[in-house]
Amino acid sequence: MLKIGLLGSGFVANFHMNGYSRLPNVKVVAVGSRSSALKFASEWGIKTTFSGPDFIEKLCKDPDVDVIDVSLPNFLHLKAVQNASDNGKNIIVEKPLSRNSNEAKEIYTSVRNSGVLHAYAENQLFMPHLEKAREIIKSGTLGKLIRIRSREAHFGPHSSWFWNSDLSGGGCLLDMGSHSIEVGRKLMNEEPSEVIGYTSTSIIRRDLTKAEDDSIALVKYPNGSMVVSENSWAAHGGLDLRFEIYGSEGVMFLDVTRETGTRMFIPSSNKNKYYVVEKGESESGWLYPVMDETFLYGYQGELAYFTSCFEKGELPYENIQDGLKINIIIDAIYNSVISKHWELI
Ligand SMILES: NC(=O)c1ccc[n+]([C@@H]2O[C@H](COP(=O)([O-])OP(=O)(O)OC[C@H]3O[C@@H](n4cnc5c(N)ncnc54)[C@H](O)[C@@H]3O)[C@@H](O)[C@H]2O)c1
Repeated sequence: MLKIGLLGSGFVANFHMNGYSRLPNVKVVAVGSRSSALKFASEWGIKTTFSGPDFIEKLCKDPDVDVIDVSLPNFLHLKAVQNASDNGKNIIVEKPLSRNSNEAKEIYTSVRNSGVLHAYAENQLFMPHLEKAREIIKSGTLGKLIRIRSREAHFGPHSSWFWNSDLSGGGCLLDMGSHSIEVGRKLMNEEPSEVIGYTSTSIIRRDLTKAEDDSIALVKYPNGSMVVSENSWAAHGGLDLRFEIYGSEGVMFLDVTRETGTRMFIPSSNKNKYYVVEKGESESGWLYPVMDETFLYGYQGELAYFTSCFEKGELPYENIQDGLKINIIIDAIYNSVISKHWELI
């Protein structure tokens, strides 16, 4: 039995718990958080809790824990990974790896020096839609990839720290662009060469944040192929998550949250009482329930894969080095926003 210590008890920690609860050989034995660990632990039946200002240090020292899962806000990833590495624990860390590439390099150095195994939790790679796309691309059916376009958008995150760029490191480009830029990199199966981006803070958000709530980034590959990453925290309509993959021999369209195959209509005189989708904004009209978000967003698949690698003593193919590369690419995009030129990676 692989024993997990979970750092964080918020939005993504709940998805991870759902994922772990489906794995027969894995048990979450401890949870640590600033304040809400007790409530979370009683909801999920977790025996040990840590809270208070040193909850990270205490959980990382727990001898009962084999793996530390870092599901904390971005500004705590470095501290958490360093503590986990110092205590010889294998690590799963949420995206983005860090607020910027300097911090990400420190994270990478700490896992490399300690020799622990590590996973970068880029869940979208494990979405069944994208696993199917990878299989089809690998078969050669789509030919050479020319362009991958991704749009991920909603009307803004759920916790206040996301809006504070000192704590988050950036806005929607870092938060959601980190997904599609990594998905694009893995589908293209090579390293990008140049980037350019545009970011803006919409007029309704200028008092709230210095971070961008709308962005577009072009990630160019040496052969001229392109990943177009469109991200927004200023788009009404609930979570929108789509990919278009254009190849020389064919094309694929993936839609995770709109074409769910299930539609329900609630008249405006009534109110929907049922959970429909992450960040769904509406309680009436046509609604599109997503079947099983933990599975469809890739959380279940990534955790099953990462924990099985750790049990075998293997480094997952999606690891902290990948997270570092994504932070480097995104820093270059932010630089291009200032320079208004293509930036080399
Ligand atoms: N893979 C995905 O699609 C996905 C989705 C959402 C979030 N994330 C990532 O997961 C990580 C956590 O995000 P979240 O959405 O769960 O955040 P959240 O705000 O919902 O939860 C954060 C948790 O950290 C705890 N915490 C401990 N110290 C804190 C402090 N000083 N300030 C604020 N919170 C503190 C909070 O109590 C809470 O339990 C982030 O890195 C985020 O980018 C990934």
